[in-house]
Amino acid sequence: MNGKPFDIKDLSLAEQGLRRMEWADREMPVLRRIRERFARERPLDGIRISACLHVTAETANLVRALQAGGAEVALCASNPLSTQDDVAAALVHFFEVPVFAIKGEDTETYYRHIRSCLAHRPHLTMDDGADLVSMLHKERPGWMAEILGGTEETTTGVIRLRAMAREGVLAYPIIAVNDALTKHLFDNRYGTGQSTIDGILRATNILLAGRVVVVAGYGWCGRGIAMRARGMGAHVIVTEVDPLRALEAAMDGFRVLPMMEAAREGDLFITATGNIHILDRPHFEVMKDGAILANAGHFNVEIHIPALREMSVGEPRRVREFVEEYTLKDGRRIYLLAEGRLVNLAAAEGHPSAVMDMSFANQALSVEYLVRHGRALERQVYPVPREIDQAVARLKLETLGIRIDQLTPEQERYLASWEEGTS
Ligand SMILES: NC(=O)c1ccc[n+]([C@@H]2O[C@H](COP(=O)([O-])OP(=O)(O)OC[C@H]3O[C@@H](n4cnc5c(N)ncnc54)[C@H](O)[C@@H]3O)[C@@H](O)[C@H]2O)c1
Repeated sequence: MNGKPFDIKDLSLAEQGLRRMEWADREMPVLRRIRERFARERPLDGIRISACLHVTAETANLVRALQAGGAEVALCASNPLSTQDDVAAALVHFFEVPVFAIKGEDTETYYRHIRSCLAHRPHLTMDDGADLVSMLHKERPGWMAEILGGTEETTTGVIRLRAMAREGVLAYPIIAVNDALTKHLFDNRYGTGQSTIDGILRATNILLAGRVVVVAGYGWCGRGIAMRARGMGAHVIVTEVDPLRALEAAMDGFRVLPMMEAAREGDLFITATGNIHILDRPHFEVMKDGAILANAGHFNVEIHIPALREMSVGEPRRVREFVEEYTLKDGRRIYLLAEGRLVNLAAAEGHPSAVMDMSFANQALSVEYLVRHGRALERQVYPVPREIDQAVARLKLETLGIRIDQLTPEQERYLASWEEGTS
């Protein structure tokens, strides 16, 4: 590692991590093409990037693409439970990436690792949840002049960054990768849908068929989770606060209830709102004995764990690797998965690589865009340029071997005109 600092669990896991990266790479043809072009064109030469992302095999392949483009990347985790320790080792050992991430790190270590990643003195930041950007603004205001821009991966991070822009404190432009259609329509919906169910099943091995599953939030993630839970035979109830989304859930065929009513019926609760205290004391008070709680939203605040703890007798009992049993005063037991953190990343492996292929293609191309145009942008949150979104969709179709039609000149003219009506 040429004396560069890093902090990971165990370097001897590197071979295993490399195999995992190679397996993921098979499913990431779009990112691979970008990597090959980057290797030829070197658009990121001399650029230092501090990235705070889930340290998974897919992220490792993104890092490889950025390196191929000439960037020097430092990486830390965007969640204390999502790191794949073998992948972290592979990045350090085979790719000389300074990685600061250990699965299960405590909150203090988590923030220390972000600090170490920032010590890389980035020209660009890549974030998933905005913890790195937030720390940079609070602790290193003097470094802003060197920064060209940043990218943000998830809904919650985009919301935080927009709040910073609104208050006039955001010091450099950010591209909201989450808002690209080729990101959230697929990653948040199909990725979270499948991997959340995967995480819950790996953690519990419960049968979903016939169970009542309550999905809180019918956004992109919630839609995917509800769809996949139904596909496995669960009776799905949706809770919402947005009338349009509630209506959509109802018309998609789900029961829609206020959480206070759903709480009495659910066997399994999955939160995906990006909001706080969706499951709270009044809900725990009426839940069935044996209810299982899981979260797929970005932060571990959707389930009010301190309230659950206060209502319980004694310490929670770990009954399986990612399952903690809370016994309430009246003897009912409630099971919390993965400490209320992103269950798909903590108890499973996060999204399938094929979907991260598109999210990370957007990341790589947005980074390239920021290197070219960052200096000309305002201190605002920007959408991913439409050309990038379209290019990612086109490339993905191409690599899937799917061909589509093209507008004829006549059709183009027709769509651009207003004169012709009924004939
Ligand atoms: N687990 C993962 O891998 C993963 C992947 C992508 C996004 N995320 C995270 O998941 C969360 C949701 O993301 P999204 O893209 O679906 O966001 P979204 O904005 O599309 O959906 C959130 C939904 O929750 C609803 N909501 C808010 N407060 C509520 C409440 N009190 N009760 C019921 N519903 C409520 C909103 O009305 C909205 O419809 C975010 O925190 C995001 O960062 C997680």
